[in-house]
Amino acid sequence: MSSASTLYQRVANRVLRLIEKGVYPAGRRLPSVRALSRRMRVSINTILGAYRWLEIRGFVEARPKSGHFVRARPQGPRPIPASLRENPVPVAVHKLIQEIVRNSSVPRLIPLGMAMVDPRLLPLARLNRILSSVARRMPELAHSYADPAGYEPLRTQIARLAADAGAEFGPDEIVVTSGAQEALHLALEVVCRPNDAVAVEVPVYYGVLQAIESLGLRAIEIPADALDGMNLDALRAVLKQYRPRAVVAMPTSHNPLGITMPESKKRELARILAHERVPLIEDDAASGLHFGPVRPSPAKAFDSQGLVMYCSSISKVLSPGLRVGWIACGRFRAEVEHRKTFRTSANATMPQLALAEYFEEGAFGRHLRSLRNILAGHVDLMSRAIRRSFPIGTQLSIPSGGFHLWVELPLGVNSLELYQLALRAGITIVPGPVFSPRGRFENHIRLSAGRWSAKEERAISDLGNLVRQMQCCGGSSSTMQM
Ligand SMILES: Cc1ncc(COP(=O)(O)O)c(C=O)c1O
Repeated sequence: MSSASTLYQRVANRVLRLIEKGVYPAGRRLPSVRALSRRMRVSINTILGAYRWLEIRGFVEARPKSGHFVRARPQGPRPIPASLRENPVPVAVHKLIQEIVRNSSVPRLIPLGMAMVDPRLLPLARLNRILSSVARRMPELAHSYADPAGYEPLRTQIARLAADAGAEFGPDEIVVTSGAQEALHLALEVVCRPNDAVAVEVPVYYGVLQAIESLGLRAIEIPADALDGMNLDALRAVLKQYRPRAVVAMPTSHNPLGITMPESKKRELARILAHERVPLIEDDAASGLHFGPVRPSPAKAFDSQGLVMYCSSISKVLSPGLRVGWIACGRFRAEVEHRKTFRTSANATMPQLALAEYFEEGAFGRHLRSLRNILAGHVDLMSRAIRRSFPIGTQLSIPSGGFHLWVELPLGVNSLELYQLALRAGITIVPGPVFSPRGRFENHIRLSAGRWSAKEERAISDLGNLVRQMQCCGGSSSTMQM
């Protein structure tokens, strides 16, 4: 199943490369669906899926009865240079991130920086009913210590969900954690010692940097290609030169880029690391929020040596507040459970009981389908609003999942200054430098489309005006074209 999703993405990427190389210039008609299906020996549906993918992202326009045409000025993120390789560095992002996270939840601010979906899109009423029912029916169990590894029926449900995505691990491989954040922290803690080097793809979710900082590790950057994720040549070079203790990656619905590595590349990533005996810490916090029709397999599906530590949670799809995450630990199972027990004894029991019942009911798949369709719509609307409001020179990511947009501002516009100005205007954003151990991405911001209404649309327009004002010394005030 999962190969179908990557097939249409691969076709889309191939067509995109031809567009970027000028083989199909702006205004040119692309090969017909039928002709391309014959030429590439894939089904008509696969080509239709690929063209639709390109259409949603603004590269291609479908004209009734005429076919698909390359749009005048396709937007796409600039590739991140593969030559970033430099010595591992200690990380010091803590204070800025803390401030950003605190501001993200101030109610009077419009939270374009918050990595959380609109609570109205979550089945909170159902979860609350199950929680009270659990408290009523199992009062003693609900108030007892849980198994340090996590409530067994919940671990079984988690293993079933992972199997649907092609990753095979049993309940015994899983340790339930306080969100994906604790899973990432535990994974790093188990395989690294202070001062060790850890390789992270950049941009990287800032929570990974917080964990690296708190454990006294050093980070080394591996650039992520804006179309298909971590640059594997750079990875090979880093492995050879610095022998990092672990590699942290988010191969599916990456935060902040929104991209998903093709399955073949995930397989290769797992193979390279298995060959070098370096653990992969896989962050799959946006699991289930893919925009394509088929759920992509995680890299864990290609773990032949038990070296992939798979971290995920319910925070983006059900409830960030219940603080339930997990780690499928591979060969590190005993050590992870040991550390978890040391630190917190176990996760809170009641959320685990309730969640196991919620998964057992079988409504989760339907909820996910609806949620990801809504989020894909939000991302599309936010992308259009940015294209309308931000000045020329702005570049946008093309997410294939999740709800974040990675925005490259025109050169010279400093995202930390924009962050301060936006705060004064009542809007939160996340400035680019917190996504890099070296404080790169000075002219990037992450915007989140977890909620979308006229209020957020106005906030995007206000942000666009702020960017123009910051730019005005440099001149241009024209609007970015599609
Ligand atoms: C990529 C990524 N990983 C991990 C986490 C942490 O998730 P949790 O809230 O489950 O701890 C987040 C939360 O924003 C995230 O975006």
